[in-house]
Amino acid sequence: SPCPVNYAGGAVKMKGFEPQIVAFCCLNCAYSAADLAGSMRRQYAPNVRIVEIPCTGAIDQGVLLQAFEEGADGVFVAGCLEGDCRYQQGNIRAKKRLKALQKILDETGLGGERLEMFNLSAAMGVRFAEIADEMTSRIRSLGPSPLKRKWKGSAPE
Ligand code: FES
Repeated sequence: SPCPVNYAGGAVKMKGFEPQIVAFCCLNCAYSAADLAGSMRRQYAPNVRIVEIPCTGAIDQGVLLQAFEEGADGVFVAGCLEGDCRYQQGNIRAKKRLKALQKILDETGLGGERLEMFNLSAAMGVRFAEIADEMTSRIRSLGPSPLKRKWKGSAPE
C-alpha cells in the first residue's frame, strides 16, 4: 500500500510557519480515504501526518495530548460515519472524549480549535483531502501551538 506518511520536512524554514498536524485515521474508513485521495492524485496539504488506528474508539485523551506534547500544532481524528463503526459505538465515544478534551484545551490556553473530529467513509477520498486542507489553513491562521513555543523557549512569558 502507498506510504501514508506525508510530512512537510523542510517547509518550516522556507515559508515561515507551516503547521504540523497529526491525523489519527481509522483503518476501516479514513485511512482508506486518505489512500484513495493519494491514488486519485488529489493533492492535499503535506502538513498532515497520518497515524493509523483500529477504531477511533481506541483513542483516549492521553494519546491526543501526547501528540500535542510531541509538537503537533493541530490534531484531528477521522473515524467511520456514525452508524458504521465496526465496534458499534467507538466513534460516538471518541466524539464525546474529544469534546471533553476540547474544553480542557480551551481552559489551558492551547485552544480547543486545534483539535477536531471528522467522520468519513472509505470512499470519501476527496473529502479527506478537503479536511486535510481545511485543518491546515485553520491551524496556519491560529499559529504555532503555545506548547511548542514554550518548549522552544522563544515565547515571551
Ligand atoms: Fe472506524 Fe470505529 S471502526 S471509527
